[in-house]
Amino acid sequence: MPAWNPAEPYNLLPPLPPGVEVETHGVLKLCIDARAALGELKQAAHRIQNQGMLINLLPILEAKASSAIENIVTTTDALFAAAGSGGEDHADPATKEALRYSRALRQGYLSLRDHPLSTRTAEQICSTIKGVEMRVRTVPGTQLVNSATNAIVYTPPIGESLLRDMLSNWEQFVHANDGLDPLVRLAVSHYQFEAIHPFTDGNGRTGRVLNSLLLIKDGLLGLPILYLSRFIIANRAEYYDLLQKVTGDQNWEAWIKFIVRGIAETARWTTSKIDAIQELSVHTKHVISIKAPNADRSELVDLIFRKPYCRIADVVENGIARRQTASIYLRSLVDAGILMELDMGREKQFAHPKLIDLIGSESNTFAPYELPATALEQAMAGTPTQV
Ligand SMILES: Nc1ncnc2c1ncn2[C@@H]1O[C@H](COP(=O)(O)OP(=O)(O)OP(=O)(O)O)[C@@H](O)[C@H]1O
Ligand SMILES: [Mg+2]
Repeated sequence: MPAWNPAEPYNLLPPLPPGVEVETHGVLKLCIDARAALGELKQAAHRIQNQGMLINLLPILEAKASSAIENIVTTTDALFAAAGSGGEDHADPATKEALRYSRALRQGYLSLRDHPLSTRTAEQICSTIKGVEMRVRTVPGTQLVNSATNAIVYTPPIGESLLRDMLSNWEQFVHANDGLDPLVRLAVSHYQFEAIHPFTDGNGRTGRVLNSLLLIKDGLLGLPILYLSRFIIANRAEYYDLLQKVTGDQNWEAWIKFIVRGIAETARWTTSKIDAIQELSVHTKHVISIKAPNADRSELVDLIFRKPYCRIADVVENGIARRQTASIYLRSLVDAGILMELDMGREKQFAHPKLIDLIGSESNTFAPYELPATALEQAMAGTPTQV
């Protein structure tokens, strides 16, 4: 085989499956651990009654991290604010782009109900992410360059029909009934997708959305909530390096181990995030029952956990109360220190800072709200201590 040249289109990219054993002993051991971690995540998600909370909150985190890999840097807060206002009109460009990613993740997830995952799914995901119609590349000129040295690290294959043939091989591999561990399949197909690099831009992000969809297709998760891009961004240099080593050295094992380890690690982290959000929701319900008993409605608490930026109209649209009562509810929650009223253009928004902080932070703990001393404690405080 001629030596691979990073500056030449890699039209000789080998088809799948890989020509070497990919399920080594070390890989399979990691798969067992990752499958257990995913099982726990699936269970934790299943236990949450407020499923809208999971689907609204966690994909935003994935969108933020996956977009940051492309240097599109925004904050969880800005993302929720823009998502809460129902439009992206006033958001900065990075926030708009990350929101499009989260929409692509959701659309991709919904599309699995109607169509099996395919090249077309990838085109649709990439189009949503980029905000313009994206099709498989028809023109040459796409290259991957090391941003520090400007050296060309990889030139993907060229020629639309070759790219489509390669994608159809990728598709067959994704759906093959060959007994391969689904996590190994995910890692292998992610490399191959990136190596084909079907689009002029957005390949990394599209590939990372596809990772989430593969887990759902294989029944390992019920919702697209694994926050794998957290691991990738924390280990970005290794991610690029290991992709490169599959191409240069056929080193599949290191790549697969990296991805499977990432799945295990982020599954555990995501589970503990879900547990923390659930604990905060129980705690908040308790605080409301004491500090804002007039707004002690479980549908309302569910709503402010689904929409960390909430409007009066949201309360009305969710059938919780009419406008005037809805406004009283939200203001009571402001007085109780749970929501914060913001004047953001057309309509007032009520932010939920403790939830936003918990979601955006690395830590999976939160400081509880301060509660007034109980009646008994208050009474005791006023009683002179007997000696
Ligand atoms: N040596 C390599 N071989 C194959 N694929 C690579 C290599 N280095 C990086 N990649 C992939 O290419 C992606 C970048 O491609 P592209 O710019 O089209 O995607 P993006 O979504 O716009 O960017 P990003 O992935 O940085 O968010 C990387 O995320 C990675 O998945
Ligand atoms: Mg790019």
